[in-house]
Amino acid sequence: MKMKILILGYKGMLGHELVKEFKNDHELILWDREQIDISRKEDTIKKVTDLGPDLVINAAAYTAVDEAEHNKDLVYKVNSCAVGFLATACKEIDALFIHFSTDYVFDGENHNGYKENHLYNPINLYGKSKALGEKMILDISPKYYIIRTSWLFGKYGKNFIETMLRLARENKEVRVVNDQFGSPTYAKDLASEVRKLVESENRSGIYHITNSGTCNWYEFAVQIFELSNLNIKVRPVKSEEFPTPAKRPTYSMLTNTKLPPMRKWEEALKDYLKK
Ligand SMILES: NC(=O)c1ccc[n+]([C@@H]2O[C@H](COP(=O)([O-])OP(=O)(O)OC[C@H]3O[C@@H](n4cnc5c(N)ncnc54)[C@H](OP(=O)(O)O)[C@@H]3O)[C@@H](O)[C@H]2O)c1
Repeated sequence: MKMKILILGYKGMLGHELVKEFKNDHELILWDREQIDISRKEDTIKKVTDLGPDLVINAAAYTAVDEAEHNKDLVYKVNSCAVGFLATACKEIDALFIHFSTDYVFDGENHNGYKENHLYNPINLYGKSKALGEKMILDISPKYYIIRTSWLFGKYGKNFIETMLRLARENKEVRVVNDQFGSPTYAKDLASEVRKLVESENRSGIYHITNSGTCNWYEFAVQIFELSNLNIKVRPVKSEEFPTPAKRPTYSMLTNTKLPPMRKWEEALKDYLKK
């Protein structure tokens, strides 16, 4: 069935892929910062309710994890309050609300990964703001999917792969941390799963969608260089060698107990590098 779908944050890494995924079969309304500031309550609720979409997909967020530590007010406005405004608007017009969250809502202490119902315990401000955004939806929304994902890479915007390829061009050796573990996820694959979820009969709730398998950043980098035929020395180092304003969780694997698994991250990476 053809739907009227509002995609927020369509210029972002994931937003771009969502547009490609849905544009052929649905009526899309695309908004980013030029069309709306989702942190402005009255304006946001009015604009979304006046538009009256069947589905609102929110890919807009404050995603600069380190900068977030120094921008507390703005981060909470965009990642928490705004999510509440969107949830309120969706409820008013009976629209399905899809929102994206992150492995950073957890502390990263759990070697075995985190199931969908694991308790929040974020260790940085970005994670705290995203956890609060989720709680807003759980409090307000009757029809929603909260999709947690991790370590996104995609064609649009900055990502780890492009950083590694640039460093390899500029240096003889690259140092990469080997004590943070997670699941790299191709934004294109995630967008395709979002579509399947929308077309499914799955109940409202929290879903974990990442590419399958886990690695640390060092292993990810080695794979990037191997697949790109780049002969560069990669040295594993501890996180202490790269101090960052925001603490990162050590183990942030998102266990998926609800949906069929996606392809492995190595296959997704190969596909990305082909392009
Ligand atoms: N990237 C990752 O590794 C990762 C991992 C886990 C989860 N996620 C989640 O996945 C979702 C998509 O992430 P992404 O990496 O695709 O994000 P992104 O590339 O940073 O895109 C976010 C978009 O939202 C816009 N935006 C920010 N504040 C806004 C506001 N107040 N009003 C309207 N638009 C605003 C941004 O505009 P400007 O560029 O002008 O700010 C940008 O176009 C987010 O919810 C993120 O938390 C991402």
